[in-house]
Amino acid sequence: MLFCSCSKQSEQVAIDRVEWRFYNGDSGGTKFSPLGQINTANVKDLELVWRYRVDDFVEGKNTTLQFNPLMANGILYLVTVGQKVVAVEPDTGKEIWRFDPHEGSGATGKTRAAVYWEDGDDRRLFFGAANQYLCLNAETGKLVESFADQGRLDLTQNLDHDGIVRRYDTRGPAVIYKDLLILGGSVGEGPRQANPGHIRAFDVLKGERKWIFHTVPHPGEYGYETWSPDSYKYVGGANAWGGLTLDEERGIVFMGTGSGTYDHWGGNRLGNNLFANCVIALDAETGERIWHFQTVRHDLWDYDLPTPPTLITLVKDGEEIDAVAQPSKMGHLFVLDRETGEPIFGIEERPVPISEIPGEYTAPTQPFPIKPVAYTDQNFTLNDVTDLNPEATAYVLEQLKEFKLGPMFTPPGFEKLVMLPQFNGGSEWPGAAFDASDNTLYINSSNEAEWISMRKAEVEREIALPDLGERIYQATCSNCHGLNDGGKLNGIELPALGTVKERLSQEEVMTIITEGKGQMPSWASFLEIEREALLAFLFDDRKDEVIETENLQFTWTGNIPYLSTGHHDFHDQNGYPINKRPWGQLHAIDMNTGDFKWSVPLGTYPELEAKGYEPTGTFNIGGPVVTAGGLIFIGATLDERFRAFDKETGEELWYYQMDGSGYATPSTFIYEGRQYVVIGGGGGSIHQTPSSDSYYCFALPTK
Ligand code: HEC
Repeated sequence: MLFCSCSKQSEQVAIDRVEWRFYNGDSGGTKFSPLGQINTANVKDLELVWRYRVDDFVEGKNTTLQFNPLMANGILYLVTVGQKVVAVEPDTGKEIWRFDPHEGSGATGKTRAAVYWEDGDDRRLFFGAANQYLCLNAETGKLVESFADQGRLDLTQNLDHDGIVRRYDTRGPAVIYKDLLILGGSVGEGPRQANPGHIRAFDVLKGERKWIFHTVPHPGEYGYETWSPDSYKYVGGANAWGGLTLDEERGIVFMGTGSGTYDHWGGNRLGNNLFANCVIALDAETGERIWHFQTVRHDLWDYDLPTPPTLITLVKDGEEIDAVAQPSKMGHLFVLDRETGEPIFGIEERPVPISEIPGEYTAPTQPFPIKPVAYTDQNFTLNDVTDLNPEATAYVLEQLKEFKLGPMFTPPGFEKLVMLPQFNGGSEWPGAAFDASDNTLYINSSNEAEWISMRKAEVEREIALPDLGERIYQATCSNCHGLNDGGKLNGIELPALGTVKERLSQEEVMTIITEGKGQMPSWASFLEIEREALLAFLFDDRKDEVIETENLQFTWTGNIPYLSTGHHDFHDQNGYPINKRPWGQLHAIDMNTGDFKWSVPLGTYPELEAKGYEPTGTFNIGGPVVTAGGLIFIGATLDERFRAFDKETGEELWYYQMDGSGYATPSTFIYEGRQYVVIGGGGGSIHQTPSSDSYYCFALPTK
């Protein structure tokens, strides 16, 4: 039996099984498959062999499927819109078992996080759901009770953060190195306090924390001086929400991090902010930093690194070099030496505009790779206004009269500012694919402008006690208890606190808040007056009492004096992007030279094509897979199509019309001699495309 790790595939030998054991194909994130049964000559014959409909999809509810299915030891693993793991037969899509982390609560959520691991007969599937990392027996779908707390690892614990903040979930793929499960996570990015995105390793068998790397350094640690002195106490983010990649041989784990919070004002995190927006290489065994490369200094744009770097090789000046390629929302591809972090094609530090927001710091320069050139537009000027038709041009020019225009890295200010690349980039969490047979990297990108502006936050010097309680409640308690009608935690129905005054006395509630109860955490870290404010809110009491906000520990804006007005869509009168086409592309880049081999539009608006337009490309999120059959498989587009391209030319060879957009990365494998390609078509989530419910699996017809 062969696994996906087989290096070169000999197409003459009949192969019974080749698996897709890793999220993104391998631990280096290459999304490469050595399979060639489906190839450029026969891909046109591909047909749907099964379709798996998730049973927790609810019409009209905004859900999505982002999971890259894993195929291991003869089982295909899918994840539903409610984060249930479903094990199916690879050739039929017939269910073998299912596991619901939410125990019937009906909660929905995204997850892209799953890792398969085995040691002899001990086969485990780890995956993230909400704030937990779960460990399942990969054959039975039962929790492995010897791992962490009955198979569930609570990621809000052991984070070296004494704050009152609890939100933490993990969606990006973790990696396993020897017996260490290494992961990052998603945390808040808004103006309220957020958890820091420290990277942690846990023992694969027991779930104990083995090491932690502080992405917001503590006093005495490298990089501490690149923040305000107390930033580490209240700044969150700098998190590897896109997941991790691993060089197993060298024992190096790689990640790309997001911005420090708050996304759009950094007056309380003065400095360049290491290790936010960094490519980081850590010793997988110990968590010690080997190197880092910062791609954005003091981020004010939410230009998170949304994906871990892809492990690549290239030949430069006759020398073979192992490197990593880090895609970004900016459309920059940072190509860095794998062992040292040195840029392979050079970097130019370019001066950028200064922020006008009081108290803000702007890094004077930002790093621009010399090669490859950016794979998205980065500088919106009046020449870049849509020319789809004269009405659209006139409409957009009229709108733009209220705007300020500036190059990429113009800090958000009080006037409206066009953002191109927009907040989703550029490129997003799916990242790139890499084919080592000719050192070519494939990446899809979006090219659709948005806008942003800043406003002064209202600083209230005084607040009525119950109003303070309500804000604390909304920020803290509603995560579990819900706003009105109760909530659920890991499937347990929680009491609706709106009616708590009918059940408990103020003293009893004060005790529960201060000491915690069962799975309810203690909130002793709040000041007493803040706990009293909660009581005032819950018991409709002390309405006339007004207190000063100055010395409160809870801050509903994190004391952020300037807030963004939001990430705003920006479209012409018919809903198309305001900038020139193409609005989405797929690129092939020769990593030996850093030159583009080809770029083609990715996605279409069928109604525009019907009017005679060439495919315009669309906004897209979903990764490419490259195969030894000479193909690139990719969904990602708004038009709900799943496509195959010729990897040499970029020519579209095949597509299938799904019922929902494929905002996910496909997987491909051989099972009982036949090659399959599977993708989630869950739609939803972005751009108001309708949500949908299916995984689609394709193969060539059997003769
Ligand atoms: C992480 C989830 C979580 C958060 C956040 C949370 N709670 Fe709870 N809470 C629980 C759970 C679970 C219970 C049930 C505990 C038990 O009975 O074992 C509970 C019970 C309670 C009860 C008892 C209710 C009753 O009718 O018995 C009160 C009061 C309460 N919580 C108040 C709060 C307040 C106030 C906050 C915000 C400061 C808060 N909780 C935040 C999980 C949470």
